[in-house]
Amino acid sequence: MLVALGLACVGCATRSADPEVAILSFESRQPERMAAFFLGAYGTSAEVASALSKDGPLALRLDSLSVFAPSLAVAARIRVKDGVLTREGFAAAIAETYVLSADIPSTRDELWDLLGDMPDSEEAERDWVTYEVSGSMTRFRRRIHIRRDAVRDALGRFARGGELRYANGTVVVGEHLEAGVMRETTAMIRRPDGFWSFVAFDESGAPIDSIDGTPDRLGVPGDCFGCHYGTRLFEPERSFPGQARPGPAGPRSIHVPDSYRDAGVVQVLQEHARRSDGLLGLPATLYVARLKGGEPTDSLDQVILGALR
Ligand code: HEC
Repeated sequence: MLVALGLACVGCATRSADPEVAILSFESRQPERMAAFFLGAYGTSAEVASALSKDGPLALRLDSLSVFAPSLAVAARIRVKDGVLTREGFAAAIAETYVLSADIPSTRDELWDLLGDMPDSEEAERDWVTYEVSGSMTRFRRRIHIRRDAVRDALGRFARGGELRYANGTVVVGEHLEAGVMRETTAMIRRPDGFWSFVAFDESGAPIDSIDGTPDRLGVPGDCFGCHYGTRLFEPERSFPGQARPGPAGPRSIHVPDSYRDAGVVQVLQEHARRSDGLLGLPATLYVARLKGGEPTDSLDQVILGALR
């Protein structure tokens, strides 16, 4: 379908005359990717495609958006100025509607329901890859949990010549700890379209639209997207298996035994530096290092170790 953008003036490609069409001015090298990330939390790929007009400058069709994401369409519409929706305006409309309208767990309990047994249960050692980081995302110490099966599945794909990529539905949780108290919980959940959904909960388990950041709070999911789908490298992952220098919030480290600091595994997996899947931590690297350290292995572990030798 051809969409008439009705540009108001020659050489002024930033203005749409159709009140149902808002030009997306994201100042991004990949505006379509960013739009697909934001909108994909609300609808299917076909619905997202219906709401984006690529005929001319990338634009949002508010009428089509209101079919599958009515509250987002309302929140976006009031932020359109002169036919243009900026990245800040769009991110604010998303932040305002995301928790209730997007397809994500709306409490911390619902998040854990997705995961089945908890990592502090008796099966913890067997079923989970858990590690702690003092890093760049937050001043809190973070305890990361990901199911061991999810890591093995991603590694199995890599070992067979594919990408180190986590399956749809994979959940990664990061608990933010301060003197033993859990201040916030963050999570990433892989969506059917391949992007991750980002969620955050406060101390009581209620959803929040931003987390504690330094110096400013970090908005969910706009700021999460910025780091997780950007190209910047972060400490201490960047220096691993070496130790990183302290940052503004103090020492930065992945708190694992020295035997997990295996340069060979880091080099082959390139888990932090490669940006194919939005995951920034090192769960697969640590899992393989643990296997190499003499953990009991099964046949899939043997395939994985074989590929990393
Ligand atoms: C300043 C950059 C930055 C921002 C902003 C950021 N992250 Fe992260 N995130 C990281 C880095 C680096 C890691 C890996 C180390 C770690 O776990 O702390 C990470 C790891 C994670 C992980 C564990 C899975 C993984 O990728 O290793 C989750 C879950 C997560 N972040 C959620 C979020 C959420 C939710 C937000 C938005 C509120 C967010 N992040 C914003 C940098 C960032």
